[in-house]
Amino acid sequence: MNPVVLTTTDGGRLEFACAPGQSVLEAAAAAGATLPASCRQGTCGSCHASVTDGPYDLGPHSDQALPPDEREHGGVLLCRTYPCGPLSATLPYEQSRILYGGIPVREATVAALEPVARDTVRLELRLDDLDCQFDPGQFVELQLPGTEVKRAYSPANTGNWDGRLEFLIRLRKAGQFSSYLSDRARPGDRLTVHGPQGAFGLHETGLRPRWFVAGGTGLAPLLAMVRRMAEWQEPQPARLLLGVNDPQDVFAVPELNAVAAELPGFRYDVCVWRPDPGWSGPTGLPTDHFAAALPELAGAAPDVYVCGPPPLVDSVLRAALLGGVPPEQVHRERFLAT
Ligand code: FES
Repeated sequence: MNPVVLTTTDGGRLEFACAPGQSVLEAAAAAGATLPASCRQGTCGSCHASVTDGPYDLGPHSDQALPPDEREHGGVLLCRTYPCGPLSATLPYEQSRILYGGIPVREATVAALEPVARDTVRLELRLDDLDCQFDPGQFVELQLPGTEVKRAYSPANTGNWDGRLEFLIRLRKAGQFSSYLSDRARPGDRLTVHGPQGAFGLHETGLRPRWFVAGGTGLAPLLAMVRRMAEWQEPQPARLLLGVNDPQDVFAVPELNAVAAELPGFRYDVCVWRPDPGWSGPTGLPTDHFAAALPELAGAAPDVYVCGPPPLVDSVLRAALLGGVPPEQVHRERFLAT
């Protein structure tokens, strides 16, 4: 057995032993601590951590979940990390994101399902037990009725006591959950909800500006964050950039307008990559607008929150670093098509 020590950003320590052939994620779970994770097979990146000391083997994983440059600097995916001796690693989240009683499993009813843009739907669920507390940025896994198939989605709303969960979901061709939503789902259907889970979320850093960059339905966790800022009337200047491919893909404008009406320091732009003659808003990639706007802050580097497909997340990270934003101020959530 190899001893493992994990340290959270708020100084919490988790110590346990890892058997040969057991991943750090599995060993932590065996010791009663469920760490943020989703796919558990090296493809989503949500179990990311950094090894500070000790030898280990990394099992098969995708470069999108763990880019080679991060791997070279000690970045690991805990679901694919097998210690070969005593191991120490840091976790990029606070102790409160570790679940000691396992992942909550609850039943919910489909309350609404409606299209909001081309291939994009809004799904609303109502949890049976009405206790719907979670941190903006976290995700839940929705289990397809009658199957073991689960898909991770981040709520776009904020925690509440009405049991309400709202999702913005891009329908993907041949996706199992997408097929359910487009072909069979009806109000009144029953679904199983696993969560909340995950480490993505707002960080309290005083009055530092907050910038949000979303690719498509990567907007969902970021919308939850700015909605939370509006509910709490948080004073940080906040700017959001949403990128979509075509004008037909634009969604969530009423929701973003509602936040802008309630939160004085908030502004947002929707960037269309392939505009048509009827589109009068910003064009191109949100990354380019992000990079061009950074100098406006005159050295006051913002906290950056980015969620979307891996190429967008990686390009925003590169632009942020080039613009002088320290890496620890760039908070990322990659989502992969499933
Ligand atoms: Fe480890 Fe998805 S849980 S990469």
